[in-house]
Amino acid sequence: MTKAVRVHKLGGPEVLTYEDVELGDPGPGEVRIRQHAIGLNFIDCYFRTGLYKAPGLPFILGNEGAGEIVAVGPGVTNFHPGDRVAYYLNLGAYAAERNAPADRLVKLPDHITYEQAAVLMLKGLTVWYLLHKTFKVEPGHRVLIHAAAGGVGSLAVQWAKALGATVIGTAGSQEKADLALANGCDHVILYKTEDVAERVKQISRGELCDVVYDGVGKDTFQGSLKSLRPRGLFVSFGNASGPVPPFNILDLTAHGSLFATRPKLADHIATRADLIEGADALFAAILSGTLHIPINRAYALKDATKAHSDLEARLTTGSSILKP
Ligand SMILES: NC(=O)c1ccc[n+]([C@@H]2O[C@H](COP(=O)([O-])OP(=O)(O)OC[C@H]3O[C@@H](n4cnc5c(N)ncnc54)[C@H](OP(=O)(O)O)[C@@H]3O)[C@@H](O)[C@H]2O)c1
Repeated sequence: MTKAVRVHKLGGPEVLTYEDVELGDPGPGEVRIRQHAIGLNFIDCYFRTGLYKAPGLPFILGNEGAGEIVAVGPGVTNFHPGDRVAYYLNLGAYAAERNAPADRLVKLPDHITYEQAAVLMLKGLTVWYLLHKTFKVEPGHRVLIHAAAGGVGSLAVQWAKALGATVIGTAGSQEKADLALANGCDHVILYKTEDVAERVKQISRGELCDVVYDGVGKDTFQGSLKSLRPRGLFVSFGNASGPVPPFNILDLTAHGSLFATRPKLADHIATRADLIEGADALFAAILSGTLHIPINRAYALKDATKAHSDLEARLTTGSSILKP
């Protein structure tokens, strides 16, 4: 038995149920992890509401976590009890203990805490691929990052700045704008009251952005397209305000032969080599001081309902964790 947060029916934060769940021995190729910290992600809300489909009901929410191995299953030779590990996996993270496939785990260097690791395997790896694989950010680029004070946004701003870009962020309040500026944004647009594309035009003296990273979706989509220079890249990677509505592909022509992509993390760490490349880059960025991990809220796992309510009400900044 272990304690876990499960979804028995899709819906609002109130459907999250903290309860005892049966946990068998780790199977072939698996290990059991006693979790120390679990990452809270907007993606968890999509699974809870059904926007992203879980294989069936009930299911344990959560896609990233960190802890120590307490048992290994048959055939596991490269991981041992006591090893400190972290992972990104599709569901199953909101639990005190869980089984996980060993080949999807990353061993933690001594300088990475469980709390940091628990927000690096989904949010951190996402920022790694967005800035290095989806579009290679280099000195001189002008990038627009929506929700710049959020979990993904806070990391993206720091790393994009360190790569030499001019970073324009958006934020929902002045307090969040101040945080985004402190994280390295050169300019922040208050997108609840200001016209994003108009402000980008002013800031860039009409030259607009090379790339827009948009995890907000429905509310920002049109402004994102208008903020791009001809042949710029629109990266839609999330739906915090709702999914991007169906659109006419000729809109990309109208805004200047734009490119558009809709990437997801799983496709960028499908092989173990890719996973390790991304994790090593993150750990090195933390060691060098390029990235600091703002963990601004920690909730008890049993308070997952409150954590989801706060996340959806836009009350959180930086990364949040759940503690079993
Ligand atoms: N494709 C991928 O591989 C991938 C991987 C990880 C995450 N993601 C996406 O990245 C985005 C950020 O994830 P996160 O976990 O770091 O969340 P987050 O940014 O910490 O939280 C979402 C933020 O979005 C902003 N927002 C704008 N409109 C909103 C609305 N109507 N309702 C709620 N929030 C709204 C809020 O910031 P303001 O108050 O400043 O507006 C809010 O704090 C999500 O869309 C997520 O799905 C994608």
